[in-house]
Amino acid sequence: MARRLGFEIEPPITNASGPESETYERLIRIARSSVGAVITKSMTHCPRTGNPEPRLKHLDRDLGSLNSMGLPNLGYRAYAEMMSDLKGFGKPVIASIATAPCSHGLSPVEQYGEIAEALTESGADLLELNLSCPNLEAIPIAMDPQSVREMLEAVKTRVTVPISVKLPPYNNVPWIFEAVADVLIDLGVECVSTMNSEPNTMEIDLETMTQAIRPRQGYGGLGGRAVLPIALAEVHRCYTYFRQQDYDMLIFGVGGITEPEDAIKHHLAGADIVQIGTAYLTQGPEVFERIAVGVERWLEAHDFRNVSEIVGTVRDL
Ligand code: DHB
Repeated sequence: MARRLGFEIEPPITNASGPESETYERLIRIARSSVGAVITKSMTHCPRTGNPEPRLKHLDRDLGSLNSMGLPNLGYRAYAEMMSDLKGFGKPVIASIATAPCSHGLSPVEQYGEIAEALTESGADLLELNLSCPNLEAIPIAMDPQSVREMLEAVKTRVTVPISVKLPPYNNVPWIFEAVADVLIDLGVECVSTMNSEPNTMEIDLETMTQAIRPRQGYGGLGGRAVLPIALAEVHRCYTYFRQQDYDMLIFGVGGITEPEDAIKHHLAGADIVQIGTAYLTQGPEVFERIAVGVERWLEAHDFRNVSEIVGTVRDL
């Protein structure tokens, strides 16, 4: 892992961008926990209040969380200013970057370039480009290989820190995934984070017989327990494809990790590092330590020395 990034993420577990990662206090709380790196909420060029409430619903039976937050964040300048305090905890800081319509009239390409440069100058160790937000009106950039190329060229020409591209679940359109993956290889992208929330999902409140969240007629992105099998397949698809192309891509596995066993499955599917989103919302910062310790115990009990020995080793039946 160090060879690919130039630094360690140890333990190989971080928060996922999004849940409670949009303010200074919340980021400090994450930095104080046992995470191996801190990831910010996806920042945009201008501050955003996000979508109208209610915009987040925890599903019954701990199935997961449905949200259409609409990228509430403080705007990139605020995160650039926080960077030195966050770095004071001695762990890598990952700036997550997204685009949305901006009052300065900048194009998405201009926004990505400007934000990437500012955050790198202020000390971010890695940029996670969120090309897959499910809650904006537009089609996610990551569904269009040519747009992915344009965004990445804008960033890659301006910064030298490693980049992770946050991908959506490609479900049953592997040809779009492969066209995007070829662009990432072509441009020398170092990492992918897969997957973003499962888009266009809904929940119904039986008391009121209404949608459970207000924005977008109740449609939002799903995270948490329910998406684990989807995420495992997305991670595995990435691992297999980049290996076939003989390309050393570092994979952040995201989606449905609630227990140590879920993290182990992500690693077996091909994740080098795991990110925890919904389970952090429901369990708080202790979740990182609990999962990291559980993974360590499992490795010991199975005579493995570290996570890298099991990455991508799931076998066909
Ligand atoms: C939001 C953005 C995401 O990328 C995501 O996965 C879920 C929610 C948002 O702020 O709307």
